[in-house]
Amino acid sequence: MDAKLLSDQIRDEYVGMIAEAPSLTELDSLRVTVLGKKGRVSQLLAKLRDLSPEERQAAGGVFNKLKEELNQAIEARFSTLDAEQLAAKLSGESIDITATVRPEGLGTIHPVTQVLDEVTEIFAGMGFAVAEGPDIETEYNNFTALNIPADHPARQMHDTFYLPEREDGSRLLLRTHTSPAQVRTMSQASPPHRIIVPGRTYRHDYDLTHTPMFHQVEGLVVDKDIHMGHLKGCLIDFARTFFEIDNLPLRFRPSYFPFTEPSAEVDIGCSVEGGVRTIGEGADWMEILGCGMVNPRVLSNCGLDPHEWQGFAFGVGIDRIAMLKYGIRDLRGFFDSDLQWLRNYGFSALDLPTLGQGLSR
Ligand code: PHE
Repeated sequence: MDAKLLSDQIRDEYVGMIAEAPSLTELDSLRVTVLGKKGRVSQLLAKLRDLSPEERQAAGGVFNKLKEELNQAIEARFSTLDAEQLAAKLSGESIDITATVRPEGLGTIHPVTQVLDEVTEIFAGMGFAVAEGPDIETEYNNFTALNIPADHPARQMHDTFYLPEREDGSRLLLRTHTSPAQVRTMSQASPPHRIIVPGRTYRHDYDLTHTPMFHQVEGLVVDKDIHMGHLKGCLIDFARTFFEIDNLPLRFRPSYFPFTEPSAEVDIGCSVEGGVRTIGEGADWMEILGCGMVNPRVLSNCGLDPHEWQGFAFGVGIDRIAMLKYGIRDLRGFFDSDLQWLRNYGFSALDLPTLGQGLSR
């Protein structure tokens, strides 16, 4: 038997095929054919039995070398195919980070949220911090501390939702405005203060422009030597930035709030034509907020000496200014969760309002 010849034949037959095996499955079936229990190499080794010891030793060496070479060829091909398969799998799983985003899949931002973000951005730019207060308040914080005693007519004007009376006769209520946050801020921390307080407020009211739950942003500045000029400058800047109209006319109209003295309501210029209201210079005025110098009685109620500290405060109706800015006529639509309404009036989830890049785009 010519071991070398036999071994060369098998090598010639299979090494090329192994190197070119197109897939891991085919490589494996080649491995079985060549190196399997009943494979070509085993058949050769079986022939060793019939040989003399010397011949067996020589032929055994040749066959074992063949076995090793085939093994190496299979290993090498296996690594290549395995790497190729992994690369194909990874490229199939890759994401194209240069593809444009599809914000329509994210839903839209509700106009109230949008306007709250815009207002926050404007006041943050002036150095205000955002504070919060609870929706359920005490009569003291919502009324008494704000200079509205129990027999004051303003208590009736507020159409308050009360919670059931407690054992000690006191009643909690749903806050009728965000002003109780003034009391909390001034009683809990020492001045100076420069905060805005966005939040939900509640009054028993329901028509085109009123819903029982609505939104306000309270503003409070307390410091030394604060005067009405600061209040006016701050609110004029706010209104012109918010409505994105540089020459927007503003009117400070004397008014009354028990917790501010003097008090004013702020109107912005507008015109109404064919039932459509346009904000900006025009023949009409539209009220957007209440404001005033913090009443010295309120400062005292919160433990501040009015001779040392002064302040101004304001309260803006968020839903109201959202309707004005974005031309929404019925407030009740805000809270119907109607998908079509939300798609129509909602804002792109990815366009955050910023002073630098534009509030509403
Ligand atoms: N709290 C008042 C309201 O709800 C608004 C206001 C706030 C007025 C702060 C003056 C100062 O109508």
